[in-house]
Amino acid sequence: MTTHVQPVLDVAGDHVARMLARTEELLEEIASEHGAALGQHASSTLAAGGKRLRPVLVFVCAGAAESTELVRAGAAVELLHMATLVHDDVLDRAPMRRGRPTVFWSAGRDAATATGDFLFSRAFGQLAATGSAAAVRALSDASSSLARGELMQRDDAFATDVTEERYFVRCTLKTGKLFEAACRLGAVLGDPGEEAADALGRYGDRIGLAFQVFDDVLDLSGPPDQTGKSRGTDLLDGTATLPIIYAREVDPGLREERPSTTSAAEALCDRIAATGALERARERALEFVAQAKEILPPLQLADNQRQALTLVADGVVERYS
Ligand code: IPE
Ligand code: IPE
Ligand code: MG
Ligand code: MG
Repeated sequence: MTTHVQPVLDVAGDHVARMLARTEELLEEIASEHGAALGQHASSTLAAGGKRLRPVLVFVCAGAAESTELVRAGAAVELLHMATLVHDDVLDRAPMRRGRPTVFWSAGRDAATATGDFLFSRAFGQLAATGSAAAVRALSDASSSLARGELMQRDDAFATDVTEERYFVRCTLKTGKLFEAACRLGAVLGDPGEEAADALGRYGDRIGLAFQVFDDVLDLSGPPDQTGKSRGTDLLDGTATLPIIYAREVDPGLREERPSTTSAAEALCDRIAATGALERARERALEFVAQAKEILPPLQLADNQRQALTLVADGVVERYS
């Protein structure tokens, strides 16, 4: 599970690896302590893996600090993230996540809604236990933004005139804000303190944006055995992502396409790739990575912390899943 973040753990220091291991234990405990039905779905989502990138960001942003409060914050961002994924798969009607059938696919809409709600409430339970109002505020801001971003995406479903600007607003709400919150939590509960929270939060926002753009490229390029998700989900549910927006400029006939089968969606993925839109979107993601890295030099950070933050920024567009 730690394979994706291993290079970051290698430079960040043993304390980050220790807190990540404690986070895993806490997550398992939380998933199993509220009855069999919820526990089964929550645990399967948890056990399926995931990169645990957001908890790692909490710990790296915290500097040399190591504490139970940080472990709770790491668990809280991952629980909120998992809650939004389980709900997102209902909205996107997604069959596969983390290489397994989604809760929505295997147990239905009601079970997925309840599982997401459960994970969501446990996230705030963990943060409340830290006693930090600033921490609760950071995550609750992110969670409101996430809901707004998902609703905006539903409003725009199958629209053919979504602009790049509107797409970036949606990505900021849907993804950037949670990355920002992870960095803020690390700053507030760790060594950097409240003064550094804004700058580290901005860094998080930029890598979150890059992360989502690249995720939208991966939705079209796959391959599913590497991403753990099926190809073309965004086309099937009418989500105009950046590569799709770019491809429509080159091949306007794409606006008329509304695939209804997986094979039709896959054929369309290839047609989009042929326009060069995937490379162009990836370049855009790299610009956001560069903006994130520009935030770091003026900050007072330890060498290993700076190195780890740079690795995370570069890693968001070098990944397969
Ligand atoms: C998926 O996030 C949702 C997006 C914001 C694109 P991740 O790719 O971090 O999902 P896991 O946790 O590794 O499964
Ligand atoms: C990100 O959007 C989901 C959330 C931020 C909740 P996507 O719909 O692109 O994420 P995946 O591709 O399903 O992981
Ligand atoms: Mg989705
Ligand atoms: Mg996606």
